[in-house]
Amino acid sequence: MKPLIVANWKMNPNTLAEAEQIFNSVAEGIKEIKNTEVVICPPYIYFSIFNSQLLGDIKVGAQNSFWEEKGAFTGEISLPMLKGLNVEYVIIGHSERRKYFGETDEMINKKVLSVLKQELKPILCIDNMAQLKKDLAEINREEFKKIIIAFEPISAIGTGNPYDLEGAEKMRNLIKSVLEEETPILYGGSVNSQNAAGFIEKAGFQGLLIGGASLNPKEFIKIIGSLEKN
Ligand code: PGA
Repeated sequence: MKPLIVANWKMNPNTLAEAEQIFNSVAEGIKEIKNTEVVICPPYIYFSIFNSQLLGDIKVGAQNSFWEEKGAFTGEISLPMLKGLNVEYVIIGHSERRKYFGETDEMINKKVLSVLKQELKPILCIDNMAQLKKDLAEINREEFKKIIIAFEPISAIGTGNPYDLEGAEKMRNLIKSVLEEETPILYGGSVNSQNAAGFIEKAGFQGLLIGGASLNPKEFIKIIGSLEKN
């Protein structure tokens, strides 16, 4: 499979004009790419930009979703709403959701189940095996093939200190041992253009989840370029 590169813009940038600028630069910079699958997950409010013709092969993802389909859930966004907006992927259980919004494994498990039910692709973020097991409770093995796992060690997220390659590879193997052969496993945490290729080529991940560096079009394009060469 082509490496799957997921840009998580988090709660950035602050204006639509800046979001357009980042998106246009990235779309222009990667329009010739062939060997990498790129997904951008912007804040919901910027999804309108992602309907443009510039989208090309870029896929769109959400950073979160709620498990109920509609109703009295103030402030939430449902999966049917996201489906109407070109969204194919949904990040679930990011460590910032767990930390700042009190998301428990039980809630994350409900979210994964609801994303699968809507036939979207969940990107489940975990820091450890206990989370993985709880977050995948009640999900049958056949469904594992439709899930993407992102190993996101908390110590590496937004710190500039990526996980060491050997440790990351061990963790990847451990995750793999409880999933199906087809389940892609991504690495996330302080990825940049210097270290990106190592996580794919040496540590064996099928892709990357990129935060900070995805907001810098030059750096993001460079990361993708570093994977295209191989
Ligand atoms: P980072 O974030 O690349 O800024 O470390 C990764 C993530 O939170 O998914």
